[in-house]
Amino acid sequence: MSQASSWEQSLDYSNRANPYPFYAELRKTPVTRLPDGTYVVSGYAEIASLLHDPRVSSDINRNPAAVAAGAAAGDNGDGPGMSPTFLSMDPPDHDKFRRIAMRHFGPPTTPGRVAGLEPRMTEIVTDLIDNMAGRRRIDVVDDLAYPLPVTVICELLGVPPGDEHRFRVWVDVAVQSTDPGLDPETQQKKRAEAGAELRSFMEELVEAHRKAPGNDLLSAMATDDGPEGRMPAEQLVSTGLLLLIAGHETTVNLIANGALTLLRHPHELQRLRNDPGLAIPMVEELLRYEPPVHFVPFRTALDDIDVAGTIIPAGASFTLLLAAGNRDPAHVTDPDLFIPDRRNNQHLGFGGGVHLCFGAPLARLEAQIALTEFASRIENPRLVADPPSYRPSPFLRGPSHLPMDIDGIAGKEHDRAALITIADAGRIPDPPC
Ligand code: HEM
Repeated sequence: MSQASSWEQSLDYSNRANPYPFYAELRKTPVTRLPDGTYVVSGYAEIASLLHDPRVSSDINRNPAAVAAGAAAGDNGDGPGMSPTFLSMDPPDHDKFRRIAMRHFGPPTTPGRVAGLEPRMTEIVTDLIDNMAGRRRIDVVDDLAYPLPVTVICELLGVPPGDEHRFRVWVDVAVQSTDPGLDPETQQKKRAEAGAELRSFMEELVEAHRKAPGNDLLSAMATDDGPEGRMPAEQLVSTGLLLLIAGHETTVNLIANGALTLLRHPHELQRLRNDPGLAIPMVEELLRYEPPVHFVPFRTALDDIDVAGTIIPAGASFTLLLAAGNRDPAHVTDPDLFIPDRRNNQHLGFGGGVHLCFGAPLARLEAQIALTEFASRIENPRLVADPPSYRPSPFLRGPSHLPMDIDGIAGKEHDRAALITIADAGRIPDPPC
């Protein structure tokens, strides 16, 4: 099989449950030129180096493939109907808008925002699991993996309870529109339709928060005149949508992929039940082994770049196949094995470089809490189907549903303090970026 057809096969929905053999095939040449003149990079070292390379642009307006697919501004932006956010900008604009948003999310200006959410996250998870009482079958996606991150990001941003159903359908369409298997015209149409709805939803919300600010991220961004000035109105709407979408679509997959992986590794499930502190290295290993974001598309070479002996020419578009890099045997031994004890956070699950995931601390904490509670309270879970059904996207990859038969729900007596203590003691430092 040629490298190009391995890429096509990996995108094919029929291989969604296990694209990894195709990634292994692709890695035989860490950089692959596709027939359309774009490139796919699949080796760990090559991806890591490109993520940090200033000759690489994330600006989708400079990317010929994004423009052809109608994903660039005008159609619009990195999300439907939006002007580009800092996700699709290069320094210095990227850094400025990221800093303005980050001021209200993390250190140094707002330390403790994420850690302060921990009791509320635990409460949400406890309620979700309590709601399963009396049932013999649950769906981990609908009952836990989706409602936790969507509730958390809505509360964090200040989206009123009950509005979630308004944007869910548009977000689903927007995510589906990123499927490279769709023809560009259909992608563009779907993106435009969902975009218009999402945009007016966020415009209303931003306006409401500007008039009556609360203790939330949108209010802070809408009213703050920090050292770099206020975020322009257009940018605020786009950033709000970026955080809303990125803030839950990915974490849903981390929790669902995590529960699936644990059921496929019952020994690890039992270990987590006995030792909640294992959740910390386990979530890192999940981000390597079953990452929610499989690739980042639409990077542009600003100069000829020599990658492992292949020149990606100036102006060419390429995709970084993070999920293949994560399983590169040159990076970790036995890459196809799930080994939580690796204590490896040098994975590519959150990308890297200037675009390293903004919400990583939030996503980590949500997954650690959800999986710990899942392990300790769900009695004798058994997969109904393995593999389960998958969502359409090859890019944001995860089960669409994860039905399980269970014997019941245990009380919530297990000790969260143990997790916190072990987390503090055994904290894995963030990777250099
Ligand atoms: C398990 C969950 C998550 C995963 C796997 C994930 C993955 C990623 C990846 C791979 C990137 C890099 C994209 C690129 O280089 O083009 C990224 C960027 C980003 N993520 Fe996440 N993410 C997750 C959760 C979150 C959450 C909860 C939020 C918001 C609260 C968030 C907000 C963002 C933003 C704003 C960026 C753009 C950063 C920049 O361009 O500087 N993500 N994420």
